[in-house]
Amino acid sequence: MVTGGRRLEGRLTVQGAKNSVLPLFCAALLTRDESMIEHVPALSDVDASLEILQALGCGVRRQNKTVTVDPRGLNDSGIPRVLTKKMRGSLTFLGALLAKTGKATIGLPGGCPLGQRPVDLHLSVLRQMGAHIRVTEDALICTAPRGLHGARIKLRFPSVGATENAVLAAVTAKGDTVIENAAAEPEIRDLCRYLNACGGRIKNSGSVIRVRGVSTLSGSRFAAMPDRMEAATYLMAAAATGGSLYLQHACPRDLTAVLAVLRQSGCQVGVIRDGIFLQAPERLTAPGKVKTAPHPGFPTDAGAPLSAMAAVANGETEIEETVFENRFSHLAALKARGAAVRQEGRRAIVRGVDRLHAADVTCTDLRGGAAMVIAALAANGCSVIGAIEHLDRGYTAIEQRFSSLGASIVRVRE
Ligand code: EPZ
Repeated sequence: MVTGGRRLEGRLTVQGAKNSVLPLFCAALLTRDESMIEHVPALSDVDASLEILQALGCGVRRQNKTVTVDPRGLNDSGIPRVLTKKMRGSLTFLGALLAKTGKATIGLPGGCPLGQRPVDLHLSVLRQMGAHIRVTEDALICTAPRGLHGARIKLRFPSVGATENAVLAAVTAKGDTVIENAAAEPEIRDLCRYLNACGGRIKNSGSVIRVRGVSTLSGSRFAAMPDRMEAATYLMAAAATGGSLYLQHACPRDLTAVLAVLRQSGCQVGVIRDGIFLQAPERLTAPGKVKTAPHPGFPTDAGAPLSAMAAVANGETEIEETVFENRFSHLAALKARGAAVRQEGRRAIVRGVDRLHAADVTCTDLRGGAAMVIAALAANGCSVIGAIEHLDRGYTAIEQRFSSLGASIVRVRE
């Protein structure tokens, strides 16, 4: 329950990145002893991932923000759909399990409903490395009878998940692998750095990743990168309420496109020590046309939060979504608050209004849910937001963190 209309002011420390720790947990399967992953956020997607590791027989210990994964007990190569359906990230277990055990049977993954989310690139990558794969109605059944071998792979699209699976499969494969048109997202950089710390031989130059297969990997201690999407969400929320925010432990280099849009909207944005400072103007200016794209472009995950911020800016913003088929299911709920929004195919056109009003709405997906919270914080009156389990997948204690910035927001029911 959010009572809007208050400026957000204060400081926050950014959590470790969900989309980095999930593949790091898969990678920890590949090593011969324990790994300690630091800066692990408290999220339901993290819980789901750790549950999968335990179901596979791995030891998992969690102490505050550090998770120790011991892969020595691994005794299974199957993950039932009841576990994989909770999140898309479960697909990344495929490459790791196949590399480690020579087989993997995993239930089809779940995740946010963002339109069609095919798995063809994942399968194609693994097939090129020697996997045999059968797809049934609800599972992917993979074997690599002669082990995995290196390959020259050119991705049709720089898919984050398919790049992760390729790296995980290649790191202990026989021979060399080159991944062209690889995803250049910072989370991939984190995965390669962790695997190299474990003894992997990976050269990651952004769109090309070269991997020299090694025979074994040892565990290591690794701190996950800051969550750039959590950072973008809080910055946009502060901007939408005319507030000011200092985000500690944020990485400006990973947020270049987001910070550029915030500056175009009239915010002062500065980089101080290991953080980002934002001061919003009295009224935001619409940033004009923004097109989402793979990194280093404007991230698709920040499109929905931007639409909520644009709903109170002066002028018209056009957000073109180029990565997913449907990232605009939250627009109807934004309209219910008085936002002047229309959708034309893959473009959302948002004309800012002076004030949004309160409304009771439901989260449609993780980032659409974040947009609902931003809009409620910027609106007059009291809003109730439902289906907040979507938020808990990607934002740690969102109500406590916004409250610490002066927002009136409480969790009424789980
Ligand atoms: C990752 O999803 C992230 N999830 C997403 O974050 C993020 O939006 C996305 O990358 C893009 O940055 C995790 O890291 C767990 P993709 P992923 O494979 O790997 C198509 C969030 O809000 N495609 O790069 O699933 C696909 O349909 C989430 O935190 C194929 O066609 O994204 C989409 O149009 C949501 N075939 C495009 O590529 C395939 O085999 C990008 O998907 C795979 C993907």
